[in-house]
Formats: sequence, C-alpha cells, structure tokens
Amino acid sequence: MRLLQAAPEAPENAVSIRAELLSGLSASPATIAPKYFYDALGSRLFAAITELPEYYLTRTEAEIFAEHQNAMAAALGLAATLVDLGAGNCEKAARLFSVLHVRRYVAVDISLHYLRESLENLQQKHPAIEMLGVGLDFSRSLHLPAEVGTEPRTLFYPGSSIGNFTPDEALAFLRQANAECCGGSLLIGVDLVKPVNVLEAAYDDPLGITAAFNRNLLRHLNRLAGTDFDIADWRHVAFFNGGESRIEMHLQALRDTTVSWAAGERRFAAAERIHTEHSYKWRSEDFAALLETAGFSRPRHWCDARGWFAVFAAQA
Ligand SMILES: C[S@@+](CC[C@H](N)C(=O)[O-])C[C@H]1O[C@@H](n2cnc3c(N)ncnc32)[C@H](O)[C@@H]1O
Repeated sequence: MRLLQAAPEAPENAVSIRAELLSGLSASPATIAPKYFYDALGSRLFAAITELPEYYLTRTEAEIFAEHQNAMAAALGLAATLVDLGAGNCEKAARLFSVLHVRRYVAVDISLHYLRESLENLQQKHPAIEMLGVGLDFSRSLHLPAEVGTEPRTLFYPGSSIGNFTPDEALAFLRQANAECCGGSLLIGVDLVKPVNVLEAAYDDPLGITAAFNRNLLRHLNRLAGTDFDIADWRHVAFFNGGESRIEMHLQALRDTTVSWAAGERRFAAAERIHTEHSYKWRSEDFAALLETAGFSRPRHWCDARGWFAVFAAQA
C-alpha cells in the first residue's frame, strides 16, 4: 500500500486553506465548505451516521449494489483499476472488488490519516490487490497524480456526495471525472427527491450524531484557521429547502458571540447561521441528462423498491 499527498494538499498550502476558511467566515451569510467536516474525528462520526436507522442513504445504496451488481459490472465493462472518490472507510468499494475483478484500487480522500488506517486494514484483507491512497481535495481540481497511470479505469463516487455540489458545480465536476476515466466508466450514487420528513430525519437524528458531526467542524476550523469557536455557543440546524431541492445544514449561534483569530474577528448575532452543507436531491431523469451533458454516454440506473436512491453507470 502506498500513500501520496497530491501537490495541492501539501502542508505548504495551509496558508491558502486558512485564507479560504477565513474569507467564508467573514462573508454574509458565513459559509464553510463541507469538505472541512472530515478531520479524523469527523470521518469517524460520518461512519457512525451511516449506522443510524434514519440515515437511509448508505443502507439503501448497499441494497441496490447487492441486488444489481452483476448488471452494473456488465454495464461498466472491464477495467482493472477502481478509483474511489471520497473513499472514507473504503467499505463500499471493497464489496465490489470481486464482481468488478479489481486488480488495482486507488482510494482518494481529503482525510488523509483516516484513509491511511482504512487502507492499511483493507490491504491486509486483500493482499493480491495493489492499493494506492491519494490525499487530494478534488473540489479544487479532480486531477489524479501521474502514479495512477493512464489505463481506462472505473471511477466510483458513491454515497450521493455529488449532492454536495450545486448543479453547475456538479456538471463541472462530472466533466473532469469524464476526462479522468481515461476512456473507462463511472459508477455513482445519487439521492433522489422523497418525502420531506424522511429527508429531514436523515440529517437531524434524535441521537445527535449528525449534530456532533456538524459542530465538530468548528473544532477542525479552530485548528486549521486559528479561530476560537466555543462549540457550546452553536447548535445544529437541518431542513429541506424545496425551492432548491436540497437539504441544508447550518450552525446557528445560540447567543451573541464574537469569534477571533490572529488578524481579525467576526461577530455573530444570536440566531445567525453559518451554512455548512447542502445536499441536493435529484430526479433520476435530470441526473441522467446531467451525465450526458458532462459527456458520458449510455447512462443506466438502478433504484431501490421505494425509489429513494439511484446508482448510475455510464461510459466516459
Ligand atoms: C459523505 S462521505 C462518503 C464516504 C464513503 N464514500 C461513503 O459513501 O460512505 C464523504 C467522503 O469524501 C471525503 N471528501 C469530502 N470532500 C472531499 C474533497 N473535496 N476531496 C476529497 N475527499 C473529500 C470525505 O473525507 C469523506 O470520506
């Protein structure tokens, strides 16, 4: 197993990361990108979220893979390399190794320490598969390092992470993904529009794990940007914005509070919010059209019986 930290994520870029975070914090409304959820604790909290009864996404997607994996493998065609974008604990990809005849697994994630742990465990279970971990922020640019090679590969982007992008950003991302397939294919999970109560429960569970995941962002920010957020001043808010067809997650100030850092400060009035995530919910026909606009051909998809989630396969 090898681990690479791709150039844009190298430690010398701490300055540009801090500048991005402080500019989002100073904006009105304040915004922090969801990629900053994932420090080592954030990655573990996300894994815990996937176990929650309310978080139907992971379970439903797994059912679709289990039922249709042979048809998916046929639609994707043969590619020895599987590139997992936002691999997290790598569990989803590992379940597909055998049906996709994977000989090379490239796991890409912004959360490098968690990725290392996940990959080390996985390599022990699958010694015959060559494994490469890539620490990369693909929201800046999805450009895989030269070590990944130039062979056609399957890009795997599960979990409806594409929903974190606005439709315009998703199109730009999918265009880059198309190029990075090197003539191979894409397998992508997409969350669909469904009753609001189901959506809102998935992002605001009664155990408070999603709230912890959201609020942990402030601790990560304190470390990355030198801010002095007190988590006790903030609460988790999640709701469905029907006009935009997206779940929004925010952190809301419980009282007037001032957050300071070396060269500045930001005052928040009580009830003011920081926007931390949106998660767009698609209609399957719109997502198929998006894939085609991004240059993919022959998109096919499979759904669960309730029509809550879709997995698309398409050729680059
Ligand atoms: C919602 S989790 C999904 C994890 C796993 N693929 C799944 O489907 O359960 C998103 C994953 O993508 C990673 N991630 C988020 N934003 C990223 C970015 N901009 N670049 C690279 N990885 C990112 C996170 O660290 C996390 O592991």
